[in-house]
Amino acid sequence: ANKLGSKKERTLALIKPDVVTKIGDVLQLIYSSNLIVTKAKMTKLTWSQAADFYMEHQNKPFFNNLVQFVSSGPVVAMELMGDEAISIWRSLLGPVDSAVARREAPQSVRAQFGTDRIKNVGHGSDSLATAARELEFFFPSTIGRGPFNTASFTDC
Ligand code: TYD
Ligand code: MG
Repeated sequence: ANKLGSKKERTLALIKPDVVTKIGDVLQLIYSSNLIVTKAKMTKLTWSQAADFYMEHQNKPFFNNLVQFVSSGPVVAMELMGDEAISIWRSLLGPVDSAVARREAPQSVRAQFGTDRIKNVGHGSDSLATAARELEFFFPSTIGRGPFNTASFTDC
């Protein structure tokens, strides 16, 4: 926290292929919080890029389905900024399973726009360290990179 008590953070918000065409609805919920969108990119991940992004889950039983789904169509990656952005975006998303979200957090993004545990609208970084890694993944630092730093991604 700085001397005014604010804890300005950046987080990676990833909108998955299930709702990428309804990005406006998700943005409205973001705008209604105190977060601002400071970067945004629509892209399509290859299977191996998605596997790299979800590396921490590589030994989980759902890993293959998750990677398959996230690489099945375009996604929108955003950097959100604001006080406690990491936890605010995760609470806007709601519980990981959209069906649980509808019971426990009916106003949440997953409750309103998700389907189940895989088609669950989005991802949010869970710590300062993962936010740094995940933002670098989608928005790499400029040094030594080509125009727009998008060379490793597939255009949509
Ligand atoms: P996880 O990191 O546990 O969710 P979060 O960080 O949003 O709380 O899970 C990451 C993704 O893995 C989740 O968005 C969907 C998928 N997943 C499943 O498919 N099945 C599961 O049982 C869980 C826990 C996650
Ligand atoms: Mg997670």
